[in-house]
Amino acid sequence: MASNRIHVLFLWLPFCVALAAEAAVEKSIWSGDLLSPPDSNTTNPSSWVSSSGHFAFGFYRHGNGHGYAIGIWLIAGTNETVVWTANRDDPPISSNSTLQLTVDGLLLKQGSDAQGQVYVASEPAGSASMLDSGNFVIYSQESSFFVVWQSFHHPTDTILGGQNLTILNQLVSSRSTSDRSTGHYYLAYQRDNNLVAYPVNSSSQPLDAYWASMDYFPYMIGVEQLSLDTKGNLCFIAPTQCLATNTHHQNKPQNTSSIYRATLDVDGNLRLYEHLFEDVEGSTITNSPSSSSLVHTLWQAFTDECQIKGFCGSNSFCSNIRGNARCQCYPGFVPYNTKTSYSNAMFLECKLNYTKDDCERSGGRNYLLYNTVSLEEMRWDDCPYWAKPMSMEACNKSCKEDCDCGAALYTNGQCNKYSLPVRYGRKVPNASDTGMALFKVPSGYVIGKNTTTSSPKNPNAIVNNQRGLILILASTLGSISFLCVVFVVSIFFIYRSQVHRFTKLSASSNLGFTEECSLRSFSFDELVKATSGFTEEVGRGSFGAVYRGTIGENSKRIAVKRIEKFVDEGEREFRAEITAISRTHHRNLVKLIGFCIEGSRKLLVYEYVSNGSLANLLFKTKKHLPWKERLKIALDVARGVQYLHEECEVRIVHCNLKPHNILMDELLTAKISDFGLARLSKPELSSIRPDKNEVRTGYLAPEWQKEALASVKADVFSYGIVLLEIVCRRRSIEVNVPSPEEVLLSSWAYHCFATEQLHKLVAYNEDEKQDMDWKTLERMVKVGLLCVQDDPSLRPSMRNVILMLEGWKDVPIPPSPSC
Ligand SMILES: *[C@@H]1O[C@H](CO)[C@@H](O)[C@H](O)[C@H]1NC(C)=O
Ligand SMILES: *[C@@H]1O[C@H](CO)[C@@H](O)[C@H](O)[C@H]1NC(C)=O
Ligand SMILES: *[C@@H]1O[C@H](CO)[C@@H](O)[C@H](O)[C@H]1NC(C)=O
Ligand SMILES: *[C@@H]1O[C@H](CO)[C@@H](O)[C@H](O)[C@H]1NC(C)=O
Ligand SMILES: *[C@@H]1O[C@H](CO)[C@@H](O)[C@H](O)[C@H]1NC(C)=O
Ligand SMILES: *[C@@H]1O[C@H](CO)[C@@H](O)[C@H](O)[C@H]1NC(C)=O
Ligand SMILES: *[C@@H]1O[C@H](CO)[C@@H](O)[C@H](O)[C@H]1NC(C)=O
Ligand SMILES: *[C@@H]1O[C@H](CO)[C@@H](O)[C@H](O)[C@H]1NC(C)=O
Ligand SMILES: *[C@@H]1O[C@H](CO)[C@@H](O)[C@H](O)[C@H]1NC(C)=O
Ligand SMILES: *[C@@H]1O[C@H](CO)[C@@H](O)[C@H](O)[C@H]1NC(C)=O
Repeated sequence: MASNRIHVLFLWLPFCVALAAEAAVEKSIWSGDLLSPPDSNTTNPSSWVSSSGHFAFGFYRHGNGHGYAIGIWLIAGTNETVVWTANRDDPPISSNSTLQLTVDGLLLKQGSDAQGQVYVASEPAGSASMLDSGNFVIYSQESSFFVVWQSFHHPTDTILGGQNLTILNQLVSSRSTSDRSTGHYYLAYQRDNNLVAYPVNSSSQPLDAYWASMDYFPYMIGVEQLSLDTKGNLCFIAPTQCLATNTHHQNKPQNTSSIYRATLDVDGNLRLYEHLFEDVEGSTITNSPSSSSLVHTLWQAFTDECQIKGFCGSNSFCSNIRGNARCQCYPGFVPYNTKTSYSNAMFLECKLNYTKDDCERSGGRNYLLYNTVSLEEMRWDDCPYWAKPMSMEACNKSCKEDCDCGAALYTNGQCNKYSLPVRYGRKVPNASDTGMALFKVPSGYVIGKNTTTSSPKNPNAIVNNQRGLILILASTLGSISFLCVVFVVSIFFIYRSQVHRFTKLSASSNLGFTEECSLRSFSFDELVKATSGFTEEVGRGSFGAVYRGTIGENSKRIAVKRIEKFVDEGEREFRAEITAISRTHHRNLVKLIGFCIEGSRKLLVYEYVSNGSLANLLFKTKKHLPWKERLKIALDVARGVQYLHEECEVRIVHCNLKPHNILMDELLTAKISDFGLARLSKPELSSIRPDKNEVRTGYLAPEWQKEALASVKADVFSYGIVLLEIVCRRRSIEVNVPSPEEVLLSSWAYHCFATEQLHKLVAYNEDEKQDMDWKTLERMVKVGLLCVQDDPSLRPSMRNVILMLEGWKDVPIPPSPSC
């Protein structure tokens, strides 16, 4: 019969030969077929097994021992490895239920009432098949070749050989190896095509991420998908970059076969597994799977699980002891759920073993009641709410006096104060960027042995109890006399409390900056020192000169910008703007580290970006820039602008985008600078409305020149000019050109495009001819021309610019820029 079918298909669909051959050995499931859990009183099977016998679809026993779940598993001896689960967060299914392939899809009926009916897949179905790849597919009613649904498009925590992870889906780890419901981690594509892993309940900010494809392959322009092929290679596709290549695939015994899977495991680690089967002669036809199997890990994203954020829960830290990651509570904390084992547990959550009411009631004056316990070699990947350089003693004292301070981390001469809960902490032995963590515990409090690191040998984890006792006595006596004083001199007390409130307020105006990651407040003298008296000018922006400098013990390089062109700018407005800038986190934006306000002096401190400006790279250096590189730079800039426009809390219009303020780092990643400053010059953008000079260089949108309000579309215009400059490697206005029509880049580009003479736009020598990518060039020119339309409404959004440049979206034919 199978050969009959093949014969018919050969007649009707000669181009489907391969598919037909495959379909012939598949075992089909037809509309009406039923499954029931194993211990139901029916004669229905409990699963549909693939023809190789390696995969099954159906009811498997739920991890908690009660009821069932529906899924796909890999059969290996007596072990079952679940690779997919339907509706994973639904409660377990009772044993008197059935799963049926109906014309409306795959329907689960629980009991007899209609309410218990759920579709596992709700596509009109004719037949279905459990394929040997582990993919469960449903075919349409019309054709058994047209797939209407497949489990490969709805991964849970695993992709199998032949399966892809794309922008449309994500991997979410399971709660435990037996409970397949949503667990602690997910891995998904961001809008910038970066594949990133985060803890599930985090705010998914950059500081929560623990793995990213762009960290692996910084040169990679956004990737389309992560593919696991049937030979065990785990690669990003287009461009191909492999996380793991399976080299020993070829030299395996003849009678073995392998099945590969990549799983985001319970612990958040992405691992590639190989299941090796020794195929018994003839077993491929029967349902009985191969006799034995071996599992081994071919690759994993982390060898040290402590690098996975959220591996340890709140107020516990991770330490790697001889290759085993384990969690421990910080000193003064005890596990939340005493049922979980005392230490060593993944996701250990800890709470304070004392109340901190005392602190709040006494307004911080009770600090004498606390002792400090310290832990060395700590790294906390969370943001402090407050940070300042000071001595360790001062830091110790500062945290004790501050009721908000749950713990402090002293690193490189800087005191970082954290509120509870402390997250993402780990002990990193022998690393340079760790610090000493300070915890306050009530005097006389005995630290449980297991909360500290190997405590007796660690001289720093000792509480000074005797001294604590004295301090308690002192402070008790002190409080009594203080009460007397209150009674006698109450007016003095009121005055004191007001002074106290004032100091608190001015301290918390600093807090405004620290919501995300604290910005450092520098004194002017510090910056004079850091820049050796503003001697090394590295550039001059619209707002003032930029100087190179270094700070800290490790001589971190910084760029200091002196803001010179502000008129009567209030300090509060300035702080508000800086706060907005400090909240931006994007790899294509230059990061603000700190600021200095002293009277009329206003300075901003940025990370130092080492490779000069884009203007320098394009116009000054003669270095050959491959087209791939140019496209990457164009996309970098586009992503940065799109982030400012669409993903910031406060939309930021750059207003002054040009190659001079796009900086290149050592990997030639473009980073936009000078953003967020335009709004500082209210009300009508006067001070950054540049001089004629700037209008002449041609980056400003026409509506700007006509005094209209700046909008995001003005940035799109500037971006278009920058894009054309990247393509042509010439300035937007060039006077020394052979013919007058070439002076203005946008009209010259349009002329070349309209007359199909794009080669006139680029100068290239024989060597570079190899690299010419006319398709990319044309796409970039078309997008550039769309961006520089005089009519703002004709310009695309930055999001669409990115999609068009990446080739996801067709680029329309641009009209002439000027109407
Ligand atoms: C199956 O039958 C046995 C005995 O007849 C009964 O105890 C059990 O509850 C039945 N199970 C279901 C799922 O109906
Ligand atoms: C089943 O799994 C356990 C551990 O998960 C492993 O030690 C054992 O070898 C496996 N058995 C087979 C037959 O694969
Ligand atoms: C069968 O389904 C009914 C609901 O229709 C439910 O009340 C009953 O407990 C179920 N029986 C078993 C054995 O799960
Ligand atoms: C996965 O991607 C590859 C390469 O792009 C493609 O050939 C294959 O059909 C995809 N697989 C699925 C299941 O979509
Ligand atoms: C995430 O938050 C939800 C809702 O608060 C909660 O039900 C779930 O258990 C949390 N997940 C984890 C892994 O903590
Ligand atoms: C597989 O082949 C090896 C030698 O190549 C042989 O020793 C072994 O018995 C074979 N196993 C099976 C199950 O056929
Ligand atoms: C912190 O200060 C207390 C006294 O207030 C002192 O006993 C302790 O040793 C200090 N700890 C560190 C790490 O400096
Ligand atoms: C840290 O350094 C010390 C001495 O330099 C060495 O004995 C120890 O093994 C190192 N520890 C690790 C984890 O590298
Ligand atoms: C918690 O506090 C109590 C009372 O101070 C103490 O006996 C106990 O040892 C503490 N537990 C830990 C783990 O420090
Ligand atoms: C400390 O941990 C060990 C195992 O690491 C355990 O045997 C011991 O009971 C723990 N101590 C306390 C006080 O819980």
